[in-house]
Amino acid sequence: MSASKLQHIVISTGAGISAESGLGTFRDAGGIWSQYDLSEVATPEGYAKNPDLVLSFYNARRAHAVAATPNPAHRALIALERAWRGAGRQLTLITQNVDGLHEAAGASDVVHMHGALARALCGYCGHQWDWTGEMSREEDVCPNCTVKGGVRPDVVWFGEIPYHLEEIGDALATADLYVSIGSSGAVYPAAGFATEARHNGARTLELNLERSEITPLFHETRLGPASTLVPIWVEEMIATL
Ligand code: APR
Repeated sequence: MSASKLQHIVISTGAGISAESGLGTFRDAGGIWSQYDLSEVATPEGYAKNPDLVLSFYNARRAHAVAATPNPAHRALIALERAWRGAGRQLTLITQNVDGLHEAAGASDVVHMHGALARALCGYCGHQWDWTGEMSREEDVCPNCTVKGGVRPDVVWFGEIPYHLEEIGDALATADLYVSIGSSGAVYPAAGFATEARHNGARTLELNLERSEITPLFHETRLGPASTLVPIWVEEMIATL
């Protein structure tokens, strides 16, 4: 499909888009999963075994995320969103990231499939609410069920079901172009979005620092840092309007 005919762009972002904002990725050398055992800090079983360890892991990540600022890649996506929607076309921004940097750049309706560090979830009643600062099992009380001890980050752990899958499926069903930015493609269901979009007739583009596990699934892959690749691609897209 030629760029001028594109109506609906679906973009999904991974940790690579925030790397140049100073937030570590998960699977690059020195990444988060080389420093922590993911089964200890990012699973319901790990939380059941040692909730204080899990809360302190996310307290540190929340503090880093709050201190970080969006980079040119986050900002370019906002420029694209405004231009594209301003021209009456559709854009869906999905992220696996929990850092909130798309919002810090000005995005308003990001689909947070893995939740957000700036949200809390009550493990007892399922209530979800905005959260700032540290979490503590001794002190935090759910404002809905008033039970103490069940407040956890509203982050999707391994073994839990990602959020908004129906909405994402609908977006991928009508996408003309699917773009993955800064993801290793190691984690499903996001790793399957390119195949799904392609199956539905979309063109697929990957923007990543290096070849990923899912590179062969895309029509086109561009390699380089997101802060360079994304603004260039966004300029190209805006020029087609
Ligand atoms: N620009 C673009 N891409 C980059 C950059 C950069 N500056 N730096 C790193 N990358 C790429 C890496 O090459 C890698 O392919 O970003 C990707 C990051 O991959 P992961 O660390 O695996 O992160 P992600 O794909 O988002 O992980 C998915 O795994 O544990 C979880 O829940 C967590 O949402 C996360 C999920």
